[in-house]
Amino acid sequence: MIGSSLRRRARTALVVTAAAAMAAAGTVALQGTAHAATTLGASAAEKGRYFGTAVAANHLGESGYVSTLNTEFNSVTPENEMKWDALERSRNSFSYGPADQIVSHAQSRGMDVRGHTLVWHSQLPGWVGNLNATELRSAMNNHITQVMQHYRGKIHSWDVVNEAFQDGGSGARRSSPFQDKLGNGFIEEAFRTARAADPSAKLCYNDYNTDGVNAKSNAVYAMVRDFKQRGVPIDCVGFQSHFNSASPVPGDYRANLQRFADLGVDVQITELDIEGSGSSQADSYSRVVNACLAVSRCTGITVWGVTDKYSWRSSGTPLLFDGNYTKKPAYHSVLAALGGTPGGGGDGGGGGGGGGATCTVSYAETNRWGDRFNGQVTVRAGSAPISGWSVNVTVSSPQKISATWNGSPTWDSSGNVMTMRPNGNGALAAGSSTSFGFTVMANGNWNAPSVGACTAS
Ligand code: G3I
Repeated sequence: MIGSSLRRRARTALVVTAAAAMAAAGTVALQGTAHAATTLGASAAEKGRYFGTAVAANHLGESGYVSTLNTEFNSVTPENEMKWDALERSRNSFSYGPADQIVSHAQSRGMDVRGHTLVWHSQLPGWVGNLNATELRSAMNNHITQVMQHYRGKIHSWDVVNEAFQDGGSGARRSSPFQDKLGNGFIEEAFRTARAADPSAKLCYNDYNTDGVNAKSNAVYAMVRDFKQRGVPIDCVGFQSHFNSASPVPGDYRANLQRFADLGVDVQITELDIEGSGSSQADSYSRVVNACLAVSRCTGITVWGVTDKYSWRSSGTPLLFDGNYTKKPAYHSVLAALGGTPGGGGDGGGGGGGGGATCTVSYAETNRWGDRFNGQVTVRAGSAPISGWSVNVTVSSPQKISATWNGSPTWDSSGNVMTMRPNGNGALAAGSSTSFGFTVMANGNWNAPSVGACTAS
């Protein structure tokens, strides 16, 4: 697994160096479009961050869901499949099926995975609450160890402990079997056990209503400060960020993220959704994204679902895509805040096919790092103008394409064949050209991808 800070640096370098290389080489200018990414994940990657979504395994057979997931996001969090009641319903009997399905889907597409969640009072099987303190300690440590070792090396961040503090002004710990039987020390013990089980994963504390400065976030802050001072292993704090009109984005959201970051931990926005619609929802989303971008240790954003229709708050339409996977104003405001430019989405397919419409492609590797390389495909229209084009790019396993720019990709079921089409208007004048690019995670295989013939329309 690649450490996310390394990945962050690589992605930042990727953008800067790729742009510089193109400029230096005098590469064909892009046709009237800015050289910017066109999806949430690729735009976030250009800012050194990930953009993820919660995923439910039972929707992975739905084509609209999967193509939106694959096109737009580069990190996933299993929405329910890694919770205790899903993984260890009976003591020491682990079932990983749906969680494994999500992880392998993510891995096949080069996406990161957030693990959610190891120790939480909710979605906890009844047997856990019936144990005495000694047995509970043993069961908690066994659960953490078994699960983290099963996914060792595959999870970029784990929510080790979730929602351990009470709402309201007390700053107290929430009652739970862990708190009530093991006392405050259960959180520290969980983090120490987690570090031993998978030293490559970032270990997060995750909670809600901690998004602004308030009694609850102050209590979490004091715990994290104490952990850092005493060397208890903690790497990140997750801010769930479930917002609605009763609980809007706090005015001190950025400042709150920053004060945690200043303790020496990463911060992540882990379950973002904002009820509403139209421009007010869009404005709130862009405030969240801008806050994260303003905090250098804010390493990524996860929205809590792909589409409104499957949201836990579906009636509040809190996500970026509606039930038909159409991009909402909130989507466009997030993309703009990330510095991306609008991609296709609309017009793929129709058009021309007129006689004489041809195009050709050429491929070049533009950059290489220790674990990945960038490829660039130049599409050139033949002697007649064309109104659109498509090109297949095939990588060979275990290579994975982890980011793309200047095109709208779709994927075959193996995840190895990417069909790239233009963003929006794909018209090219006779003899003129455009380019798209992508990053290939080599995974030890440095072969150039196979670039198919150009199909013009
Ligand atoms: O899968 C069963 C289905 O078989 C059954 O017919 C149905 C009947 O109720 O339940 C289905 O399970 C539901 C599950 O979501 C999957 O849809 C559970 O009842 C339901 O409780 C569960 O809700 C999840 C909730 O956590 C549980 O606390 C939501 O999907 C999930 O989005 C939500 O996520 C939490 C985070 O983990 C922590 N932070 C808050 C966030 C929102 O509540």
